[in-house]
Parts: sequence; C-alpha cells; structure tokens
Amino acid sequence: MNRTTRFSAKMVGMPRLEEFVNRKGIPVAMVLVAALLSLAMTATAPAAADRWEAPSKAAARPNPEAKNPAAPANGRRSFLQACINCHGEDGSGEGSRAADLRSASVQSQTDGALFWKITNGNTANGMPSFAGLPETERWDIVMFLRTLKQ
Ligand code: HEC
Repeated sequence: MNRTTRFSAKMVGMPRLEEFVNRKGIPVAMVLVAALLSLAMTATAPAAADRWEAPSKAAARPNPEAKNPAAPANGRRSFLQACINCHGEDGSGEGSRAADLRSASVQSQTDGALFWKITNGNTANGMPSFAGLPETERWDIVMFLRTLKQ
C-alpha cells in the first residue's frame, strides 16, 4: 500500500519536469539546430552545384614534360600505382564513380587543367589530391593520360 502511494507521488512529479523541458528547453534547441542547418546548407549548396573546373591560369600552364619521350612510360608507372584502384588500368573508371579518363570531356581539357585536378583533387567527390607526388611525376601522368585517348 505504502509503495503504491509513493510511486504515484513520483508519477505526478515527473510529467511536470518533462512539460518544463518541452515548453522551454526543446523549442530553443530546435531553433538553434534549424538555424545551424540552414547556415550549413547555404554554405555548401553553391559549391556542390558548380562544375569542377581548373582556374584559367592553371589551365594555361604548358606541360614541361611535353618533349620528354620517356614521359608517357614514366607516367604509366605512376598511374598503375596511384590511380587504377578507382580509374581502372584502362582509365575507363569501370563503373565506379571515378571519371572515364579516355572520354572527350577529359581529353578536351588542357594539360595544365588535368595537372591542376590531379594536384588538388576534388575530395568531396572522391578524387584525392596528389600534391604529394613530385611535380614532374604529375606532368608525366598527364602525358600518359593522353595515350588513353580513344
Ligand atoms: C580514390 C579514388 C580515386 C583515385 C585513387 C584517383 N581518382 Fe581521379 N577521380 C576520382 C573520382 C571519384 C573523380 C570524379 C571527381 C569529380 O568529378 O568531381 C576523379 C576525377 C579525376 C579527374 C578529372 C576528370 C574530369 O572529369 O575532369 C582526373 C584527371 C583524374 N581523376 C585523374 C586521376 C589520376 C591521374 C589519379 C592517380 C594519380 C587518380 N585520378 C586517382 C577518384 C579517384
């Protein structure tokens, strides 16, 4: 009998605390979360909509390896080590999200633009940055990419 009385006294007390949190605490937290979410969305939305393009200055850079006959073979060696997991040995991307490096949309880009993309990556879309590879190696990879053109 005693236990039941004490228990029901607690039951009466608890909803009051919940009501307080519902009326004061949760609406404030929800407004804050909503405000942060809309801030985050306006900050990221324009970037996601943009096409991934190299700045014109970077795209205009000439390939210093263009006249080196060994460049495509050197580039192939690096490509087999660093790129085939995503782009495949033939550069096709093999049904992954990675770009088809043989395609006209890639091959129509300048050496400078491809060098810039390899250097900076587009990590938000799964293309890593290869700024850690020596610069000559990156230009050699571009020379190799030209051999994939169909
Ligand atoms: C972890 C997976 C991954 C690896 C490793 C990788 N890539 Fe990519 N790559 C991607 C993805 C995904 C994209 C598409 C990114 C986009 O369109 O925003 C991409 C895009 C590219 C593009 C741009 C294509 C275009 O449409 O303009 C080039 C060039 C490229 N990769 C070259 C390389 C080279 C060269 C290497 C090796 C040094 C390499 N990638 C390694 C995933 C990868």
